[in-house]
Amino acid sequence: MEEQVLEGKLVSASKTVMTEMIMPNDTNPMGNLMGGYLMRWMDIACAVCAARHTESLVATVSVDHISFHEPIHLGDVITLTAQVTRAFNTTVEIFVEVSAADITGANPRQSNHAYFSFVALDKSTGRPIKVPPVIPITNEEKKHFEVASRRRELRLILAGKLKPENALELRHFFTEFK
Ligand SMILES: CC(C)(COP(=O)(O)OP(=O)(O)OC[C@H]1O[C@@H](n2cnc3c(N)ncnc32)[C@H](O)[C@@H]1OP(=O)(O)O)[C@@H](O)C(=O)NCCC(=O)NCCS
Repeated sequence: MEEQVLEGKLVSASKTVMTEMIMPNDTNPMGNLMGGYLMRWMDIACAVCAARHTESLVATVSVDHISFHEPIHLGDVITLTAQVTRAFNTTVEIFVEVSAADITGANPRQSNHAYFSFVALDKSTGRPIKVPPVIPITNEEKKHFEVASRRRELRLILAGKLKPENALELRHFFTEFK
């Protein structure tokens, strides 16, 4: 059967920006945003971005390391910016950055960032489907794009889905120590 070729799409076409104000229900006993709520919003912003790029239903497959650098306080406003970095076969990698400020915009700071992976799913069968390639334009987009294949190999190795000796780019890191 002939392989389906999908047209590439710009990163800007699916870029997703989401804003939330931290309310009392979102906080921990110290009055700061609870990490789990932030992860939920990160997942939503990334899912919208992935669905816009793939024009399909998507499901989260994996989330790379997340650390929290700065506490976010009650009444602060956070902005989540999600952008696609690269498409593989049936998955896309999304980069999300979170910044915080008070409601007037004062005291702006970067809070954290992470990479999320989503699989595109067929509406009727629920099975993975092919995703359109990403066309990186800016230097930042190109950098994210280039390194994405290494991040993918690492997460597949850690998930036990790829043998280190079969990793094209990271093989040496694992086999040198044998
Ligand atoms: C994602 C899922 C469809 C993969 O099923 P599978 O039978 O392993 O399918 P495949 O092996 O063909 O993998 C499909 C894609 O997922 C990727 N993948 C699978 N496991 C992965 C992992 N742990 N990390 C990153 N990517 C992963 C594969 O590399 C492949 O990507 P590619 O096609 O772009 O190369 C299946 O694990 C699933 O349905 N998971 C639940 C998703 C979900 O419900 N998310 C919400 C969580 S509550």
